[in-house]
Amino acid sequence: MSDDTEKTYEPSERVQKEAHVKDMETYRKMHKLSLDDPEKFWSDIAKQFYFKSPVTGKFLDYNFNIKNGPIYIKWMEGAVTNICYNCLDKHVKDGKGDVIAFYWEGNDPMDCTTITYSRLLEEVCKFSNILKSLGVKKGDRVAIYLPMILELVVAMLACARLGFIHSIVFAGFSAESLSSRILDAKADILITADGCFRGAKLVDLKKIADEAIHKCTEHNHKIKACITVKHVTDKSYCDDVTERPAKRPTNQMEVAWNPEVDKWYHELMADSSAECEPEWMESEESLFMLYTSGSTGTPKGVLHHVTGYMLYAATTHKYSFDYHPGEVYFCTADIGWITGHTYITYGPLLNGATSVLFEGTPLFPDCSRLWSIVDKYQVSKFYTAPTAIRALMKYGEEPVQRFKRTSLKVLGTVGEPINPEAWIWYHKVIGNSQCCIVDTFWQTETGGHVLTPMPGCTPTKPGAATFPFFGVEPAVLTDEGKEVEGPGKGYLVFKRPWPGIMRTVYGDHARFEKTYFSKFPGYYVAGDGCTRDEDGYYWITGRIDDMLNISGHLLSTAEVESALIKHASVSEAAVVGKPHSVKGFCIYCFVTLKEGIKFTDDVVKELKLRVREDIGPIGTPEYIQYAPGLPKTRSGKIMRRVLRAIAQGRRDMIGDISTMADESVVETLFGTRPPQNSD
Ligand code: PRX
Repeated sequence: MSDDTEKTYEPSERVQKEAHVKDMETYRKMHKLSLDDPEKFWSDIAKQFYFKSPVTGKFLDYNFNIKNGPIYIKWMEGAVTNICYNCLDKHVKDGKGDVIAFYWEGNDPMDCTTITYSRLLEEVCKFSNILKSLGVKKGDRVAIYLPMILELVVAMLACARLGFIHSIVFAGFSAESLSSRILDAKADILITADGCFRGAKLVDLKKIADEAIHKCTEHNHKIKACITVKHVTDKSYCDDVTERPAKRPTNQMEVAWNPEVDKWYHELMADSSAECEPEWMESEESLFMLYTSGSTGTPKGVLHHVTGYMLYAATTHKYSFDYHPGEVYFCTADIGWITGHTYITYGPLLNGATSVLFEGTPLFPDCSRLWSIVDKYQVSKFYTAPTAIRALMKYGEEPVQRFKRTSLKVLGTVGEPINPEAWIWYHKVIGNSQCCIVDTFWQTETGGHVLTPMPGCTPTKPGAATFPFFGVEPAVLTDEGKEVEGPGKGYLVFKRPWPGIMRTVYGDHARFEKTYFSKFPGYYVAGDGCTRDEDGYYWITGRIDDMLNISGHLLSTAEVESALIKHASVSEAAVVGKPHSVKGFCIYCFVTLKEGIKFTDDVVKELKLRVREDIGPIGTPEYIQYAPGLPKTRSGKIMRRVLRAIAQGRRDMIGDISTMADESVVETLFGTRPPQNSD
């Protein structure tokens, strides 16, 4: 295995033959042009889209250096367009209305449907009209809390059509997380569903949404309308978008109804007009916001604007997956995360692609589900997360071999560094050694891939995100902020804006500047460590701030700690990540209890539940360790490095503790480690 992990893999010939970029020389030329003359490079790309009127100001204007004044980024100033129009109307006008936009594959394998571009346009127009009739105005925020159903795509595009800023909250988040996001965005419309199945489990989404609405009321914020998609209740129901077989409906849940606020989606849609003129938007008007964890504990509303995001989503989707019209593309992410925004909805639709929209999970009804979908729809471009690959590896090759997978050409990964063993398994077993692997590095903030191989030309190394995408100029900085020349390691930063970079943190530009631009003036700081090797390949080594990457999703240590502290028994808490064979990292908590409170199994259970309720299932701690005291510096700062070593049972990782206020804490904590799981 180790030989394979150290090899370099040339692009597979069958991908290279038809690729948009067939050799490294072309990639280098294109990349150089994108940096030397961004206007020429991106205005050529912009020709594939409809613009109501052209650029009136500068093509690119920005300040990346906090010392020179406020940070700002503007692309194609004054140009007027609409991203929804380019996703849908343009294709329909070009005679491609009958192309399938999505194969929808439900949680239950019997539950599936398709939707064409023209049908999707109709549904979007109808829903846009509904939002308009509810009084939503350009620039208003609309909260969306939906499972992976077509109505989610309809809702987000309807917002984009009229210039409403969608704020999608992953439907696995708790009522607390949902309400805090609604409050921060000051959204007064919420779109949700009655419920959904995740594997065999029924999730009562409306109940969670109602709790969130209630919490908002406690903060004097009123939700004007809650629109609910009937997805799992009522046997007789077949909605307007899809003809769904009767497998899914359930009588296991009741939907509470408040006639003042609640509205059924299908009732509103029944008599809504399918004609809706888009709102023509200037380049730098807002498209959507999406929350990502922040190191202070409160999530940041990452705001993306229309034109730059549009150019970047389409271009990265086209080149990173080497997408060609007619091919079937399948991204397993949830639209509640940025991957789903850019690489399920916007990127593929802008390119007129046919995609699979999958509601379920890789393990239901069994661990060959993804490969059954690949064969069913003849998927050629496939995109998933290392955590899913590692989870499936555990079941061996047999479940994979049940399906042919011969349609596959490009296999993408995203969300966390992929360990070379998982990379090799993905390449050899899933891809039959016939596919190109693209390890795409990016963030909610970057809008799209910033480091990624090009399938048709980049020789890949297992675990490396390889080279920058067009328009991206990375650098590696030392602790002192010096650029590393040639091979070396340090902070991953970017020296200039590409079109898809976020424009601000919603409602808090100072936080945007502080988080990304203050540590090293003149650079966008990604928050990840990185190594550049002797061949110029970039290898991401993981977060270097107080973020936890659990199964490819970021959480801050502070948000887990603040959930623990809310429990009446806890006086202090500190949280670190511990390596985990499937999740990448899992959550490991140290808690100090208040005087007189005993650390029992019940307390552990309660604390796990507390965090789960506060954040949602992804926030559930794996370990809670009793900590009579925490390792702190003399000035009172918690030494997480020491806690990470204790969590892993590694005395050799402790390092220098001469600044610690009370060194005896270390031995005590080695003594109170809970039994460790065998993952
Ligand atoms: O730490 C990096 C990791 O995920 C972080 C961004 O998380 P989020 O904004 O939630 O977006 C995830 C999906 C784009 C990054 O700062 N990350 C993402 N992709 C990779 C990665 N780490 C290593 N390799 C990747 N390919």
